[in-house]
Amino acid sequence: MQSKSLFSFIFLLLFASITFSQQPQWTEVAPGVWKAVIGKPESYDLLKAAGTEPNKSALGKVGPASFPLNKPDIDATVTDGKTYLRFPLQKQEQIFGFGLNFQTVYQRGKILQLHVDHYGGKDNGRTHAPTPFYISSNGYGVFINSARYLTVYAGAGVRRDSKNPPVAKDRNTDKTWSARPYSDAVEILVPAGGVEVYVFGGPKAIDAIRRYNLFNGGGTLPPRWGLGFTQRVQRLYNADDVKNEAKAFEEKGYPLDFIGLEPGWQSKSYPCTFEWDKKRFPNPEQFVKDMMKVGIRINLWLNPYVSPEASIYNSIKPFTASHTVWVGAVPDFSMPEARKIFFGQLKKDQVDIGVSGYKIDEVDGYDHYLWPDVTTFPSGHGAEQMRQTYGLLVQRYSAEMYRALNTRTFGLVRASNGGGSSFPYVIYNDYYDHADFITALINSGFAGVLWTPEARASKTGEEWLRRFQTVVFSPMAMINAWASGTKPWSYPEVAEQVKQYSLLRMQMIPYWYSEFARYHFEGTPIFRAMNLEEGFSHEVKKEAVNQNLEQNPYAEAISKEIKDQYMAGENLLVAPLFTGQTSRKVVLPKGKWFDFYTGAYVGDGEIITVTPGLDKIPVYVKDGAIIPMMPPMLHAPAKGQVIDLEVRHYGQKPGSFKLYDDDGETFNYEKGEYSWRTITVERDAKGQWKGSISAPEKGKPNTVGQVSWNFMTK
Ligand code: GAL
Repeated sequence: MQSKSLFSFIFLLLFASITFSQQPQWTEVAPGVWKAVIGKPESYDLLKAAGTEPNKSALGKVGPASFPLNKPDIDATVTDGKTYLRFPLQKQEQIFGFGLNFQTVYQRGKILQLHVDHYGGKDNGRTHAPTPFYISSNGYGVFINSARYLTVYAGAGVRRDSKNPPVAKDRNTDKTWSARPYSDAVEILVPAGGVEVYVFGGPKAIDAIRRYNLFNGGGTLPPRWGLGFTQRVQRLYNADDVKNEAKAFEEKGYPLDFIGLEPGWQSKSYPCTFEWDKKRFPNPEQFVKDMMKVGIRINLWLNPYVSPEASIYNSIKPFTASHTVWVGAVPDFSMPEARKIFFGQLKKDQVDIGVSGYKIDEVDGYDHYLWPDVTTFPSGHGAEQMRQTYGLLVQRYSAEMYRALNTRTFGLVRASNGGGSSFPYVIYNDYYDHADFITALINSGFAGVLWTPEARASKTGEEWLRRFQTVVFSPMAMINAWASGTKPWSYPEVAEQVKQYSLLRMQMIPYWYSEFARYHFEGTPIFRAMNLEEGFSHEVKKEAVNQNLEQNPYAEAISKEIKDQYMAGENLLVAPLFTGQTSRKVVLPKGKWFDFYTGAYVGDGEIITVTPGLDKIPVYVKDGAIIPMMPPMLHAPAKGQVIDLEVRHYGQKPGSFKLYDDDGETFNYEKGEYSWRTITVERDAKGQWKGSISAPEKGKPNTVGQVSWNFMTK
């Protein structure tokens, strides 16, 4: 008898040590940001890999927030070496995020496995930045700080003990039966015995995103030149080819700020040597200098896999993984020894001679190319953890090289993850679906990353122009001609329109730069979903919704998803057209909207149908909005260069705009060397529009020359 009770006691103890359910204890770690530690978190996670510091003072300015969820409704259970997380969902709640998705904006109802990978055509969690962060239409966000492959049931599972259970129905007799009954929770499986969870307060969804970005150091602030135009030239180009290409841009009057060299600048690629090919580039230092003299910076493509023929191969070998990629050694960038050798080579050979940045390729996937999950790394981190964080690591440590020189960089990368908001990199891929590229642009704003819908080549001039129009309204205006050798003027029938759009990109640099500054200092994503816009209607006209759908929040949600128009900065709504389309519908949030090109009134809280012609990408401006522009120069303003402004005002309301200014190239803004100047447009006593700009602050950078005013709405 006694031994039996001892046995059950031991059993209970054992059981208790394997499974425990806990109500997370929340601590406010920064204004409006709460953290809970569940079980025993692993020593390596996304935030450790990213290594950024929260901007607490900026977080303090987002405004007050209270804990956004009912705490007892959040559950965390650790059992079987895994952590089971559950967060409540309300009936009418929609959720966004879970990384850089390409086909869907609404994530409620999804089952995802978050896994860094090359996007494979399905929103299943495998993508370039599978950020474990979701945002609710009820105005909060949740972030899981884990470098594991997380399985997410985003309102899919139905628990027996649900507080709001769906009713069981008979499929034979009840037409409202659904294969996906209502679910009241987001559930996440973390394959580890513990994890840190963060909740970001609102009150609005955009506030939660701002808090997330600021918690990760704020969005990146690119150099001004990064917002100009970039051409990635064909692979195997030599120094003269590059010079000739730059000359052609200049002669033809197309703007250009930096040129990307694709495979061929290195003596070996796939795997790489990280050393110049001396046949194609006999004097790299002179080449980079010569290009700089004509106003063009150089960006270099690489993948980080080290060729056995690289001079760093032997020294880096002990700090590389058990498995290779294309027979190249895989540096363990979580180890200082590996970083010192790898980035030491880049610095000595390229950064120190003036190379402006990198395009870091192949750090995402494919499974058949990348190291398998059975790989071991000398740091002891799992292959899975390295897969989830490799993009973060290469961004972090390459950016550090530039920071050490007090020079900003702006480059490209094919993988990122949670914690990466502040890295000066834009994501791209090979998938090349124009419409899905725009949905990715929308989702980038939820994922804390930047994305470019790059143009490569097209079947027709129409497609070329349509693609080009969208890169102009994206974080990086780029042609990637690595395979095609296309130039902006390659399609003669639209060459002039392409030129006008690339010049428009340049004219808008003062607007873009100020919007990036807001991304940095306030956390507001520049390119983002309509759903984050005040006055955006979640209601669909009744007749559009079938009765059955109305019962099922997920199906109903899908019927309302808007994934082909987006906000660009605080004032612009961009509604691209794709090949074959001559007209489209545009959903205008409440408030008056005006045509960007003409200033004409277009509508208010309604759906309009537009037929803009091939020459125009529809862009609409808020009432009272101010768009600061500069002359259509062929290069972005140089460090400290004084530039005239043309200030455009739209609509019937008075307006104001905070114009950001700094030297455009260094990190001196972190020491306070920046200014915000207020541009105001109001009616004078006679009812005429009148514009003014606040005086420059003493001792602060001032690059504003003459200011002219253009009141667009007559
Ligand atoms: C791909 C990359 C392209 C281009 C190409 C060069 O992986 O996505 O943009 O750089 O490699 O080989």
